[in-house]
Amino acid sequence: PLTAGINSHDHLEIGGCDVTKLVQQFGSPLYILDEETLRSACRQYRSAFQNYYPGEFQVLYASKAWSCLGVCAIAHSEGLGIDVVSGGELYTALQAGVKPEVIYFHGNNKSVEELSLAIESGCTIVVDNWYELKSLVNIVETLRATSLQQTRIMLRLTPGIDCHTHDYIRTGHLDSKFGFDPDQIEAVFAFIGQQPNLTCVGLHAHIGSQIFERQPHQDLAEVMVQWMEKAKSYGLPVTELNLGGGLGIRYTESDDPPSIDEWVQALCQAVKAACESQNLPLPKLLCEPGRSLIGTACVTAYTIGSSKTVPEIRTYVAIDGGMSDNPRPITYQSLYRAVVANRMSAPVSETVTVAGKHCESGDILIKEASLPQTEPGDILVVMGTGAYNYSMASNYNRLPRPAAVVVANQEAKLLLRRETYQDLIRQDCLPNSLLG
Ligand code: LLP
Repeated sequence: PLTAGINSHDHLEIGGCDVTKLVQQFGSPLYILDEETLRSACRQYRSAFQNYYPGEFQVLYASKAWSCLGVCAIAHSEGLGIDVVSGGELYTALQAGVKPEVIYFHGNNKSVEELSLAIESGCTIVVDNWYELKSLVNIVETLRATSLQQTRIMLRLTPGIDCHTHDYIRTGHLDSKFGFDPDQIEAVFAFIGQQPNLTCVGLHAHIGSQIFERQPHQDLAEVMVQWMEKAKSYGLPVTELNLGGGLGIRYTESDDPPSIDEWVQALCQAVKAACESQNLPLPKLLCEPGRSLIGTACVTAYTIGSSKTVPEIRTYVAIDGGMSDNPRPITYQSLYRAVVANRMSAPVSETVTVAGKHCESGDILIKEASLPQTEPGDILVVMGTGAYNYSMASNYNRLPRPAAVVVANQEAKLLLRRETYQDLIRQDCLPNSLLG
């Protein structure tokens, strides 16, 4: 899906830009976001809904996958709303010019400050639990002196639907920290019915991430349509149904996810079927993909440095980043694929272990990478790093976070400035008493 090619120097090009030149210009490591791939994924989601869903719909970008001004602005310009999960992500979306009407605020432990910011901004709050619901009632009452606006909320339910993915990223099974338990739902509906300042516009559920099956979302649609009906019986004006994100992407050859079109089609058909069989009106349907919008749209370019061969065991090839810019392999044992950007047609000749530069043996980006012969100074490009890489990046070992550029039509523009050593100590305080 990347707008990639190989130029006459045998170099990888993305968005018409020579990756080795981008590294010379912007430094290494470098996140390179292909604007066209991201836009095209946004369009695929929207046009699939247009084709398969006769009712209203809204696609949201789950900005936890990569929250920054430029990415929010691109998604918004393609007609997407934004899903945020913290005051920081909310602030970023608002600063990117995203309209609050299409911002949905999730999270299982939003603070009073975050809830107040959300209410004042006018976004929709996806209420996760009783504690939040009750604090929201209090905050809204206090703020009501200054604003007479109703606060739009949705309710997050734990649907009790399982899917096959990594344990840390499953969220829909009953033993999940997110959402109201089914046992509680009717009491919640009744309570909200009594709240004059809260308008409950719909229900939400999210069952997990990097999912390849379609069945769990179809089951989810059915369960949620029934809960919508229940909510209406308590007098709640629910018209919106948000079925979360979760569509997986292809990291390696063996991954075989459905296409965006197939996934949306399955979702829409399930919602339509559930509504038809119970003779209900179609809800406004929302979904909030993150990974499948941005995952394949970005690569990370690194510079190869040292290497070490352990006879008869393996060769380590080290790059100038690692678990600080891509914590997914060490966290989830995630697999990635890499190419050598400055010798694209050189035949694959070895299997090496791509190691990061952190002081930790587990800092391995790719255990078995099939690469051509490499040497120091080569540019290694890891594919599919758009989702949950920058957003989970850290300064471990005080590595400055890499820069990011967005490329399109042979042009590269800065999205994130590379951190400097000064940036690293910006928040540090050195009390006088500590100076000798
Ligand atoms: N909506 C909610 C409420 C979510 O919790 C998530 C992801 C999404 C939408 C977007 O899911 P997606 O379409 O990206 O699968 N850090 C992990 C992924 C954690 C996902 C958390 N929630 C990883 O790197 O694999």
